[in-house]
Amino acid sequence: MYDVVILGSGPAGYVAAIRASQLGLKTACVEKTVDTDGESKFGGTCLNVGCIPSKALLDSSHKYTETLNHFSDHGIEVLKSKLDLSKMMDRKNKVVNQLTSGVSGLFKVNNITPIIGEAKVLGPTQVEVTFDGKSQVISTKHVVIATGSSPIEIPVASVDQENIVNSTEALAFDSVPKKLVIIGAGAIGLELGSIWVRLGSEVTVLETMEEFLPMADKRIAREVLRELKKQGLEINLGCKVTSTESNPKEVKVHYEKDDEPHVLGADKVIVAVGRKPNISNLFDENCDITFDEKGFIPVNNFCETSIENIWAIGDVVRGPMLAHKASEEGVMVVERIAGRDIQIKYDLIPSVIYTHPEVAWVGRNEAQLSEEGVEFKTGSFPFVANGRALAAGETPGFVKVIADKETDLVLGVHAFGPSAADIVQQGILAMELGASAEDLGSTIFSHPSVSEALHEAALAVNGQAIHIGNKKNKTKKN
Ligand code: FAD
Ligand code: NAI
Repeated sequence: MYDVVILGSGPAGYVAAIRASQLGLKTACVEKTVDTDGESKFGGTCLNVGCIPSKALLDSSHKYTETLNHFSDHGIEVLKSKLDLSKMMDRKNKVVNQLTSGVSGLFKVNNITPIIGEAKVLGPTQVEVTFDGKSQVISTKHVVIATGSSPIEIPVASVDQENIVNSTEALAFDSVPKKLVIIGAGAIGLELGSIWVRLGSEVTVLETMEEFLPMADKRIAREVLRELKKQGLEINLGCKVTSTESNPKEVKVHYEKDDEPHVLGADKVIVAVGRKPNISNLFDENCDITFDEKGFIPVNNFCETSIENIWAIGDVVRGPMLAHKASEEGVMVVERIAGRDIQIKYDLIPSVIYTHPEVAWVGRNEAQLSEEGVEFKTGSFPFVANGRALAAGETPGFVKVIADKETDLVLGVHAFGPSAADIVQQGILAMELGASAEDLGSTIFSHPSVSEALHEAALAVNGQAIHIGNKKNKTKKN
């Protein structure tokens, strides 16, 4: 009898398993994906076909575009640069394998029992695992469901894994598509679009909504759109894809914009319109469970499902589909199983889009605060006035700090620019510790660093930024 059986080994499941074992719980982790050696392939979407391979290709393609377009600004003439896509893909695969085998090693060190196969919940104390046509039933005190998510499919562009693909295939193209259409301008569309435009594709992104990045700060969304267009991404908003037709030469994508029909030819089409929770065949029919209208497993703030001792975490439950959110839920759940009173601050989960420059934010933006009727003040600082950013030639973008008008407590940090993810991380720490804009402004930042833009933005909240010449930046007298 196990204390905990975890279904799925993505960032939710494998992190939960390791923490459970650290807490002295007898733990097993069931994973259905198998590698070529017949062993479980751990790491889920994130390590295998998500966060990690996409970042490996984002970094490689960034280096390539730097040699082509930006090294000469630094006085470096590259006489010949040639893309070796297959080597780039091999490198990406090595990075993935190193991390997935790292998880395997961590399972061994922590005495976690890996179980190969597809899991089905029979009830709060029993899980059935089927592999190669054979089933076994495992007994446990707690079940943690961490089965993740899969790409949403749309009938007007059904994926054939050849010409019309989703993100998994788009991270493994064997040649650079000449013309690429991406359906969806979310995180996946923009990251994959960035990779392939840098490697030479002509990329058009078709987005159904009229507003670009509606969840981001409005000024940041405007600047990101402008910058990505400058990088060659054609981003077309307010487009409704109506059909696609494939022939051996190309895929034709038909869409409507402003009620006018349009058609685009492409070598490849990537469908990136969101992801859906993996719940199919997950519960035995005797389990008394209902899903929400989008198919997520309903849970409370502690990730408890409606069935006692069955928990669900990560992409299969509500909230942002992000690896760090999934992992933190994994830790919270097993800590609670071990009797500790742990909870997550859901309002402090950061979002990052790994375009170049990066887009990142935490907390609420101005539109959300206005809607909630919260009075706030803001301070911004542009990277063009930051010495380190200027030295690196990374000047687009800015950092914005939002603070409560009365208490000065930091309510949100929004950044577009070099190392935006790491800059926002410092804002999260400030918010976690209940810091005010003044606290952040009176913290010493190393010079020169891009983080100084956060320091200046925090100072600007109360009109005290040093390197801003504008009239708004005046200290208010009490
Ligand atoms: P998953 O990682 O999906 O893992 C679920 C696991 O469960 C899988 O291994 C699956 O095989 C297994 N499984 C499913 N059903 C069963 C079953 N019945 N029995 C046994 N095993 C089962 N997030 C970020 O935070 N940052 C990023 O930069 C980022 N980049 C991304 C890029 C791409 C292209 C994609 C697609 C996603 C990206 N994400 C990113 C999202 C991130 O990958 C997910 O939020 C994260 O993987 C969710 O973790 P999870 O453990 O809940 O699910
Ligand atoms: P998404 O929800 O971020 O974006 C999907 C986009 O497609 C939306 O803008 C939506 O309006 C649009 N769309 C929906 N239907 C459409 C249609 N029929 N035609 C045209 N556009 C349509 O989903 P995405 O990009 O697929 O990513 C899935 C998940 O993976 C996200 O929730 C995200 O959190 C996660 N992810 C995170 C990353 C990161 O943290 N850097 C990177 C990549 C993915």
